[in-house]
Amino acid sequence: MLKGRHLIDPKDFSIEELESILELAEEIINNQGDFKNLCDEKILGTLFYEPSTRTRFSFEAAMIRLGGRVIGFAEPGSSSVMKGESIPDTIRTVASYVDIIAMRHPKEGAPKYASYYSSVPIINAGDGGHQHPTQTLTDLLTIKEVKGRLSNLTIGLCGDLKFGRTVHSLIKAMSRYEGVKFVLISPNELQIPEYIRTEVLTNKGIPFMEIERLEEVMDSLDILYMTRVQKERFFNEADYIRLKDSYILDRDKLKLAKDDLSILHPFPRVNEISYEIDEDPRACYFDQLKYGMYVRMALIAKLLGVA
Ligand code: NCD
Repeated sequence: MLKGRHLIDPKDFSIEELESILELAEEIINNQGDFKNLCDEKILGTLFYEPSTRTRFSFEAAMIRLGGRVIGFAEPGSSSVMKGESIPDTIRTVASYVDIIAMRHPKEGAPKYASYYSSVPIINAGDGGHQHPTQTLTDLLTIKEVKGRLSNLTIGLCGDLKFGRTVHSLIKAMSRYEGVKFVLISPNELQIPEYIRTEVLTNKGIPFMEIERLEEVMDSLDILYMTRVQKERFFNEADYIRLKDSYILDRDKLKLAKDDLSILHPFPRVNEISYEIDEDPRACYFDQLKYGMYVRMALIAKLLGVA
């Protein structure tokens, strides 16, 4: 049962629970009219302490398409956060007005902390450089739709693997499926955090390799997950400028890839994928962002216990 639960980390839900959300998302895609009054009378609160386009809009659109309503802030400066209000007080307040909360915060662990004080489900919509479980639901649905399976895949993750929270969550989730291999492509300075390397991969015997050059591994990949270098998490601008264009996927590099490669990107894109790739049938990132709304519809419905 997912009713009343929080989603802070992808591993909060079992594979079966994740699967039930993906299945409901597929049902919603195929029969949208059947779901339009599911959340009548329900309210989603969106607390975004950090910038967002896709995550916030897709959450809000999801709730509205389920017949529910949305209140919240996209800019903490417009709320009592500016007056120094603590997370527990903000959450206790908002939880007494709404039925479910999506929260994004620059501090790792903030949504988890919030969940201790919330009488309604808290969904982590991204916490600092840590986790982003609803982007992972989006990614899982995209992979399932384009590949027809979530097992037996070689997944290349490329770019800022250190600060990229979508990467951390996707590795956590995909490492639970059989026959999945990870190829981690990044500059040395932007390799995955040690806890992912040891606790999620090495200790569980999951096959992975770490490499700097995308060209060397391109032909082995079933999925290529590109990410931007996370400017806002750097301490030093010079390091960001040096690393920001480490990878630019263009036609020449793509010539080395399999015909059935699927290219994903959580977006925003800065420079990592050249616009000429958008027309390539292997580019799945525009479908991916659409799936993000449907999977959030399914998630909201499950956590509210209405489907
Ligand atoms: C990602 C995020 O916020 O972590 N964006 C998103 O939610 N789709 C990726 C990013 O900001 O690079």
